[in-house]
Amino acid sequence: MSTQQEELQPFVLVIFGATGDLAKRKLFPALYSLYHEGKLHRKFAIIGTGRSAMSLSEFREEVKIGVASFGRTSIENTGEWESFVEKIDYIALDVNDENAYGGLKETVEKSEREQNTGGNRMFYLAIAPSLFGTVSTNLRKGGLTDTTGWKRLVIEKPFGRDFTSAAQLNEQVKQSFSEEEIYRIDHYLGKEMVQNIEVIRFANSMFEPLWNNRHIDNIQITASETVGVEERASYYEHSGALRDMVQNHMLQMVMMVCMEPPSRLKTEAIRDEKVKVMRALRRYTEEEVSQHVVRGQYTAGITNGKKVPGYREETGVDPASTTETFVAAQLFVDNFRWAEVPIYIRTGKRMPKKVTEIVIQFKELPKRLYFNRNNDLNPNLLIIRISPQEGINLLLNAKKQGTDDKIIPIGMEYCNDCMEESPEAYESLLYDATMGDSTFFTRWDEVSLAWKFVDPIRRAWDRDNEGPEPYEAGSWGPGEAHRLLEQNGKKWWPVGDQEHQVVRAVEKPDLS
Ligand code: BG6
Repeated sequence: MSTQQEELQPFVLVIFGATGDLAKRKLFPALYSLYHEGKLHRKFAIIGTGRSAMSLSEFREEVKIGVASFGRTSIENTGEWESFVEKIDYIALDVNDENAYGGLKETVEKSEREQNTGGNRMFYLAIAPSLFGTVSTNLRKGGLTDTTGWKRLVIEKPFGRDFTSAAQLNEQVKQSFSEEEIYRIDHYLGKEMVQNIEVIRFANSMFEPLWNNRHIDNIQITASETVGVEERASYYEHSGALRDMVQNHMLQMVMMVCMEPPSRLKTEAIRDEKVKVMRALRRYTEEEVSQHVVRGQYTAGITNGKKVPGYREETGVDPASTTETFVAAQLFVDNFRWAEVPIYIRTGKRMPKKVTEIVIQFKELPKRLYFNRNNDLNPNLLIIRISPQEGINLLLNAKKQGTDDKIIPIGMEYCNDCMEESPEAYESLLYDATMGDSTFFTRWDEVSLAWKFVDPIRRAWDRDNEGPEPYEAGSWGPGEAHRLLEQNGKKWWPVGDQEHQVVRAVEKPDLS
């Protein structure tokens, strides 16, 4: 979780959108797990706000249902739940109404007196992004940002919909909170194995010397999902996979894999190195986009053994929609370390598996000793499993037992969550936010450079009449996504199949 060792800090947390899905499924369950594990200061209070008028007991009941259904910490047979829920208050609030913030201020001050939290305030915006600016302004006008303790603003994604809108939003939010006080969430940065990338790279002498274009052939980052658009059509139609996944989660993983070792394990030193990757990331002109970036949209098919409709048939989706539900791209980080190493990314909905994995493919050896026998050598692969399995798999070549010359790939597998369940991303991030550690939150320059990379791609697609390539639900995306690699003599490695990875890597390249 945190890279720093401060003492736990007391606080009042105000959650905007406390009756929404995110709060119910992620935030309250995460807060309760932290409470259970002693990772919250005992002096704290949570004030939920939402549009609906409801009594405190109704609200607490809603929270309880959410934690019981989605939390990893059981609320059964323990007095702990009762003491946790005592800390929760609720106030109905129209966030657009400047005058309503007086009431919120009173509630916050009352909690501060009761819990003796020293004026530390955290505001969590689990609301529509269009309201981020308004709420931060109203918090200032309502006097809520005027406090004797620290103040922090936690914002969900998306932060803007292109560089211009993100910059405007940033200007607005900065009127009320400084950059150090803004915690922009990218929940991928809260995932155990994403955080582990740094450690795997910088704490092992065997990897760092090889981590460059002399030894790495290519990098493949996959984040595939089996779900379709679900009930989010009104959001997704305007975002598509490019804004929903690539601008944030995929590029964050690229940064973690490609960054230079930071001078110290300090927040800004780490974030500085990540930003340098974004500065070196080759930006495509609108004309170049089609050579390097592929978009797709799912059609009807079968996922998880069930027939599913195509994207255009989903509720709330325009039957002529050109929104992409899949993106694959070939990226280059034009610096000394990574020159000419292709970094392939792909993400999509309605794919065969839900899996997030990073495959580092090492270069082949000179074709001397162990070639031209019955089998070619398999390249060494380092697979970093982000989810649902967490771990590392290192594929090597070895002699098959009992033979003279048969070489087989062997896998050295480490499972990160087999002995003990890992904390949820939101637990880790909420904990860090209460501790004032923003290492795994995105800084404005990262966000702005990510938009600058994504914007020309979006513009190229918006002016192109052809729309995304169709792909059948349950497949690995459109044929173009495979051709992107094949044109360079490469292929996507199979992902997400622990037991058969070794065999399949050799025998069945993933060309579905
Ligand atoms: C969210 C996207 O940020 O990430 C969703 O808005 C996507 O569309 C989700 O489903 C994927 O997250 P995870 O943690 O399930 O891989």
